[in-house]
Amino acid sequence: MALDGLFFIFPSPMKILDGKALSEELIDSAKDEATKWKPKLAVILVGENPASLVYIKNKKKACERAGIEYEERRFPDTITQDQLISEIEKINTDDGISGLIVQLPLPEHIQVPLVIRAIDPKKDVDGFHAYNLGKIFLSPDFEDLPPATPSGIIRLLDHYDIPIRGQEAVVVGHSNHVGKPVSIMLLNRNATVTTCHIHTKDLKSHTKRADILIVAVGKAGLITADMVKKGAVVVDVGINRTEDGKLCGDVDFENVSKKASFISPVPGGVGPMTVAALILNTVHAAKRQNLKP
Ligand code: GUN
Repeated sequence: MALDGLFFIFPSPMKILDGKALSEELIDSAKDEATKWKPKLAVILVGENPASLVYIKNKKKACERAGIEYEERRFPDTITQDQLISEIEKINTDDGISGLIVQLPLPEHIQVPLVIRAIDPKKDVDGFHAYNLGKIFLSPDFEDLPPATPSGIIRLLDHYDIPIRGQEAVVVGHSNHVGKPVSIMLLNRNATVTTCHIHTKDLKSHTKRADILIVAVGKAGLITADMVKKGAVVVDVGINRTEDGKLCGDVDFENVSKKASFISPVPGGVGPMTVAALILNTVHAAKRQNLKP
């Protein structure tokens, strides 16, 4: 029997996009540059959001692994917007700090865009500032400090040799930090991109066409197997908790994994890749600022 015939009897098995393993590799690969450029990451945390506490603990651990100095500045959720911006300005002018992130979400009385605008774009290792977002708009060559989650997703696809050029990519979710920038980064790699969101009519008609499906909504069980094309690559950015407290994504992993060619798990997929991309941005920012001793 020809090999093609065998493929129909034994279709190639679904593969896991193992973000945890790749992120460890990438963080380790940053060690030499970290030794050379001596980056220091400052993390601002406002309040005590439980998810934020977990995220920053992971970022701290990754910094320790890469040999990056890490400093946390915590403020009560009563801090005013002006006070927070003046704390950012202090870090902007501190030559010993090469990277700064303000952990989100922030309390409702604080306007996130104004806070992000206050961060020096050179130190914006989350890649959230309009200057850094503008650069990713131009072409992959201009991606200097790309937003961490989209950058982690592209690195994950590249690592598994998943082609992007000419593919139908469907992004579900149009946030400023994930959906919109990952759509642009896929477009600049010559995918045909559809961005869906809360107002999209007939979501399934779009997701069904996707060769690459990226889901970043934050709604458990949003994507079911009937919404996915056989052989699709599925990247799940959602982080939700089930009623019994377990982490899960936006995709019905158990059933979608039977149809997908590749799928990212939650946890262990995009989350660690975001942290790895943050580490790479932090080293890159220090190099650009030339923070030698
Ligand atoms: N909150 C959830 N994810 C992120 C992230 O990647 N960066 C920041 N600053 N806040 C977050």
